[in-house]
Amino acid sequence: MQGLRGVKIEGWGKALPERVLTNHDLEQMVDTSDEWIVSRTGIRERRVAGPETAASDLALVAAREALAKAGLDPERVDLIIVATVTPDMAFPATACLVQSALAANRAAAFDLEAGCSGFLYALAIGREFVASGTYDHVLVIGVDILSRITNWQDRNTCVLFGDGAGAVVLGPAVRGQGILSTYLGSDGSGGELLCLPAGGSRRPLAPEHMEQGLQYIHMNGPEVFKFAVRVMGEAAVKALELAGLGLDDVTYLVPHQANLRIIDAAARRLKLTSERVLVNLDRYGNMSSASIPVALAEAADAGRFRPGDILVLVGFGAGLTWGASVVRW
Ligand code: ACO
Repeated sequence: MQGLRGVKIEGWGKALPERVLTNHDLEQMVDTSDEWIVSRTGIRERRVAGPETAASDLALVAAREALAKAGLDPERVDLIIVATVTPDMAFPATACLVQSALAANRAAAFDLEAGCSGFLYALAIGREFVASGTYDHVLVIGVDILSRITNWQDRNTCVLFGDGAGAVVLGPAVRGQGILSTYLGSDGSGGELLCLPAGGSRRPLAPEHMEQGLQYIHMNGPEVFKFAVRVMGEAAVKALELAGLGLDDVTYLVPHQANLRIIDAAARRLKLTSERVLVNLDRYGNMSSASIPVALAEAADAGRFRPGDILVLVGFGAGLTWGASVVRW
């Protein structure tokens, strides 16, 4: 990126619904156990949004917090990108709803869909706009209300997911500071391994599709697991290479929070001890696009990051997609 500006994270925020659904609650709903869920995934509880809460509501709370931390008036936001697979509705974009609610009157706004990799895709795009000098401030939000597309009678999937939102504000920085690299990938041939079959133009929300439960997440867990273990390590190493750094430089891994066994495998591949890996899936489950920015915001709020720390954000998701980014804090 010779000749371009550096791009830093100026503010961060998160939003989590109040209602907690524990593994013991799930034991009353499907044939499962706390022991199975904890040992196979690491998840103990997750947050579930109430029926009145939509993606834009959580996104707005996270966005306001991020803007406040950045000390930025919404009028100064140039672009809002919302990464989500659960927008309020197919259109208008959830980003436009957030733009209106924030009164970010100068901002362009659009949604982006890259499964659980959505936040990393949105971060990469936001960075390009700031690096090129096209925009000064980009609000990047990852939000998902997966509880709306979860089949609560399917124990294979309903124990895994949670609702939440995370946001960051990007702004210009000295070169060599902030986001040092981004790396994205996709393999659409694996699309059927993780999909929401109905609700689009291929299979509209018609009764015959809903009777088959096609409006819910469908997932081949073991195949997604194998894919995730492979790409998490590969993507992190690639992003480090692009940043001109090596494994020894990493201070913290900020992984997508899908399964503790996937995170542990990535950490082993990167030779990182557990205290260098941010984990919150025990409390929130897999929040899709929100998992990485929420982990980032929590650690930043807890004062875990020191100036100069090297963070590796890495994730995978439906598509199939994957991505990683190296950030100098
Ligand atoms: N409680 C009890 N038993 C269960 C449950 C449950 N909640 N779920 C599945 N089982 C059973 C299965 O039926 C199976 O029983 P069987 O052997 O009698 O058929 C057994 O447990 C083992 O099932 P596996 O699928 O082999 O279990 P595995 O160890 O692979 O763990 C899991 C399953 C947790 C889903 C794992 O494969 C995984 O995490 N995969 C990745 C999921 C993921 O990352 N998804 C990303 C989603 S991202 C997005 O875009 C939304």
